[in-house]
Amino acid sequence: MSYALVKLTDFSVASLDSAIRDLLSALDQESAAVASENDWKVFRDRWMARKNGILTQLNDLWLKAAPKDAKRDVGQRVNEIKAKVEHTVDATQSRIQGGASTARVAAERVDVTLPGIRRPLGAEHPVIKTMNEIVGVFRNLGYSVEEGPEIETDYYNFEALNFPLNHPARDTQDTLFITGQESKPQRDRLLLRTHTSPVQIRSMEKMKPPLRVVCPGKVHRNDAPDATHSPIFHQVEGLAVDTNITFCDLKGTLDHAMKALFGSSVKTRFYPSFFPFTEPSADVQISCIFCGGTGTRDGAPCRNCKASGWIELLGCGMVDPNVYGFVDYDPAKVSGFAFGMGVERIAILKYGVDDIQLFFNGDVRFLEQFA
Ligand code: PHE
Repeated sequence: MSYALVKLTDFSVASLDSAIRDLLSALDQESAAVASENDWKVFRDRWMARKNGILTQLNDLWLKAAPKDAKRDVGQRVNEIKAKVEHTVDATQSRIQGGASTARVAAERVDVTLPGIRRPLGAEHPVIKTMNEIVGVFRNLGYSVEEGPEIETDYYNFEALNFPLNHPARDTQDTLFITGQESKPQRDRLLLRTHTSPVQIRSMEKMKPPLRVVCPGKVHRNDAPDATHSPIFHQVEGLAVDTNITFCDLKGTLDHAMKALFGSSVKTRFYPSFFPFTEPSADVQISCIFCGGTGTRDGAPCRNCKASGWIELLGCGMVDPNVYGFVDYDPAKVSGFAFGMGVERIAILKYGVDDIQLFFNGDVRFLEQFA
């Protein structure tokens, strides 16, 4: 800051002009050098501070020192200088603040050419996906969807399905019982349903024949988890009751469903079996989708079907007439079939999964493959 206000002795126009030129050029230079809010405060005080600011000095060194006949002229010039200084100080501040906000705007500017922030997309769980696919096959055949509770009574899970009390057939379903039920009559005791078949009973209680329902849902069994067992799994149940329904209808329906799920080259085979609520009963096998039903793959015995060429997939049968007695259907008038399939089992075959636990571990590296 080299400029200092000089005490005027010569008040001629020429001398005033030159002194004012010096002053204004110093003002412009100092203003141009201001680069921050702090600079600006120093600059403002140097020119405008009441105590010893340049404008104050102007009063003393120029105005008061002027001879009487020059006072008017000097006073006018000093006023002009004051206005100019105030204006410059204001303008300098605006420049500094404008600069700051320009910098802020530049920093905050959105670069629309950058890629957006993507949230990872969720995917349908393979079990749910397979369950929906199975349900879809039967919906296309005109079946409607029914659901029932996972906590069931002994009556719906066993008794009404023709499992007599204490009958050994109950042992085939490793049941998880709810505690504290001993004071209730046996049929009211609660358990975790071991299959979706109780929804057959609930549907027939609700609706009169003809009836075609599929019942997807979660079931529970007291099984230790391993590569092929899980205490929680899913089933899709099916039930059709009408007049003149025969075992042929059952065969045709399930043959169609297996072809829809596994491809039209798949064959089905019905193998005698037993369920208390169906008579006759069958296990359905499909031709092995890994070896094409030949039993050999790459010159070696097929491991997936144990070289038999067949894979067992689901249980089915004609509804036992005793069951109709529990739901007020007339067994002399109606007949029907039922089937039940494990969803995980079908998903394992469809997607070539080698461990049922993968469905329940929640590892996204596994799950995202089904997206
Ligand atoms: N509920 C049987 C099971 O879980 C399967 C089944 C359903 C069999 C319907 C016949 C008819 O083993």
